[in-house]
Amino acid sequence: MNRVAILTSGSDAPGMNACIRAVVRGAIHHGIEVVGIRRGYGGLIRGDIFPMTSHSVSNIIQRGGTILKSAHCPEFMTVEGRQKAYEHLVSNNVDGLVVIGGNGTFEGALHFHDEFRFPIVGIPGTIDNDLFGTDYTIGYDTAVNTALKAIDRIRDTADSHERIFLIEVMGRDSGYIAVQSGIAGGAEMVMVPEVLLSASDLVDALKKGWNRSKSSSIIIVAEGETKGTAAALADQIREQVDCQIDMRVTTLGHIQRGGVPSAYDRTLASRLGLGALEGLLEERTNVMVGVINNQLVYTPLHEAVGRPKPIRNELLRMVTILSV
Ligand code: F6P
Repeated sequence: MNRVAILTSGSDAPGMNACIRAVVRGAIHHGIEVVGIRRGYGGLIRGDIFPMTSHSVSNIIQRGGTILKSAHCPEFMTVEGRQKAYEHLVSNNVDGLVVIGGNGTFEGALHFHDEFRFPIVGIPGTIDNDLFGTDYTIGYDTAVNTALKAIDRIRDTADSHERIFLIEVMGRDSGYIAVQSGIAGGAEMVMVPEVLLSASDLVDALKKGWNRSKSSSIIIVAEGETKGTAAALADQIREQVDCQIDMRVTTLGHIQRGGVPSAYDRTLASRLGLGALEGLLEERTNVMVGVINNQLVYTPLHEAVGRPKPIRNELLRMVTILSV
C-alpha cells in the first residue's frame, strides 16, 4: 500500500480531529502517503482531494469538529455516485480508504467495498455510542460530559424553584447519552427508546417522589424516546396530573456535538486512527475498528452495520434503583 485517503462523514463528533491526526501521522511513520477528502463522500464524488502532511494535522488534537468538514451524502447511496467516487480514488492513486463516521457512513462503505473490493476501514465516530463492534465511539465521552455540566446547572435552579425539569439529550435512536448522563447527574428518571415507558409511568414516579416530599425532579429524555420532543411529553404529563405543576423543558441540542474533546476521546481516537491505518497495512479490509474490553477489535462491516448495540441492563437497573 502506497497511498491512503481519509474522510469524515455524517454527523461530526469531538475527537474526530485527533483521529485524523493519528491516521496521518501513523501513515507517515509507515512511509505511506496520505490524502484528505473534504466534506465526506460528497467530496470524494467531486474529487475534492488534497495531500496531507504531518504539518496538516498540527495543533488539532484539542479541537472539536472536523478539519476535513463533514456532510450526509445521499448521492453515495446510488451506484452512479459510488462509481464516480471509485474513479477519483483510482485517478489519485489511492489504494486504501479510512472513513470516520456512524452507521450511515459504514452502510455506504459496505456497498462500496462490495462493488469495487476497495480496501476500506471504518472508524466509529459519533456521539451516540450506538455502534455494534465497539464499547465506545469517538465523541460519546465528551458529549456525556457536556450534557452532565448542563444537567448540574439545571439542578441548581430546579432545586431553588422546586420545579420539575425535562431535559432532552441527543442520541437519535439510542439512549446511551441519556442513561450515562442521567446516572452521573442523579436524575430521578431516564426515558430511553430501548425501554418503552409512557407518560403515565412518569407521572406515577413523580407522584411517588412527591409523597416522599421531593420538591424538584430532573428527568432525562432521549430524543428518540418521544419520537417528537420532550415538550410534547411535558404536555402529556400536564394532562395527566390533576394539580398545577411547575415544569420546564430544556433541549440541549447541538451543544452536545461541539467542544473540546475529553482526554478519553482524544486517546480513543488516536488509538482507533492508528489501529485503522495499521489494519489496512495488514490487509484487514471491509471492517470497522473498535475497542472491546479495552482491546482493539476489527469487526466485519456487514456484522456492524444496522445492528443496534443494546444498553447494558445493569445501567438501566442502576437508574431505577438509585433514583428513588
Ligand atoms: O448522530 C449524532 C446526532 O447528533 C444524533 O444524536 C442526532 O439525532 C442527529 O445527529 C442530529 O443530526 P443533525 O445535526 O443532522 O440534525
